[in-house]
Amino acid sequence: MTRIALITGANRGLGRATALALGRKNVRVVVSSRDGATDVAEEIVAAGGEALPLRLDVAEPASIGTGCEALLATIRREWNADSVDILVNNAGVGLFAPLGALTVEDFDTTFAVNVRGPLLLTQALLPHLADGARVVNVSSSLSRHSSPATSVYAASKKALEAITRSLALELGPRGVRVNSIAPGPTATDFNGGAMRDDEAMRDVLSQQTALGRVGHPEEIADAIVALVSDELRWVTGERLEASGGVLM
Ligand SMILES: NC(=O)c1ccc[n+]([C@@H]2O[C@H](COP(=O)([O-])OP(=O)(O)OC[C@H]3O[C@@H](n4cnc5c(N)ncnc54)[C@H](OP(=O)(O)O)[C@@H]3O)[C@@H](O)[C@H]2O)c1
Repeated sequence: MTRIALITGANRGLGRATALALGRKNVRVVVSSRDGATDVAEEIVAAGGEALPLRLDVAEPASIGTGCEALLATIRREWNADSVDILVNNAGVGLFAPLGALTVEDFDTTFAVNVRGPLLLTQALLPHLADGARVVNVSSSLSRHSSPATSVYAASKKALEAITRSLALELGPRGVRVNSIAPGPTATDFNGGAMRDDEAMRDVLSQQTALGRVGHPEEIADAIVALVSDELRWVTGERLEASGGVLM
């Protein structure tokens, strides 16, 4: 049977690349974003895949509730389905600020999007997560190595990895695999597009990376496709770093 995936933050960056990659694998993709990710859904359909757009703000518990209701109504109507086989908790915000500049609002927003969002969305989907489903939480290489001004962001990703491991244990009896993927610096809009557009930063990061450059969104997407594949069916509770070997 054709599998169904839900991806958060699928309108651009890693989420979009993952949606396109899963679409190419004949997965039916629900592409969600705060604005609905209609363009990406159309792109997948134009390429011969199946996709539906969905509005979902992971920082707002009410939006998670209404988003899940809309998701179920839509996949029932369009695909005669009532469960999701793949959940990619990709939506995230960066926060690069030294201690002196951090605010309570920064902290709360970062944790609301990067930690509470994936947790509450997985919880809301629980009755509609198929037995044997796969959940991928998008972490960061910054949960392993450290750099200045990343305390809150790195802590949020480390928290997400702790959640990943605990949920792997909780959901294991249903055959649900829960893993995290930890991208290294990747050329997207993230951090103001610095990894893509700032040549000096790219050079520094490239020198710190075994494979000698920053990553492309498609490379993270392909790693996520691998993580949800049957070939990795015995892998759960793991953290897969896809960073080209940054700061090893
Ligand atoms: N790029 C990197 O170097 C890198 C490295 C390690 C980890 N990551 C992680 O990879 C993930 C994707 O990042 P990216 O590189 O693709 O960055 P990006 O291009 O900045 O995209 C971030 C995505 O998250 C979405 N988002 C933010 N707040 C949201 C909310 N409240 N509800 C729903 N969606 C929300 C954005 O949607 P809007 O368009 O609505 O803002 C956007 O789709 C993030 O979790 C990030 O922490 C990225």
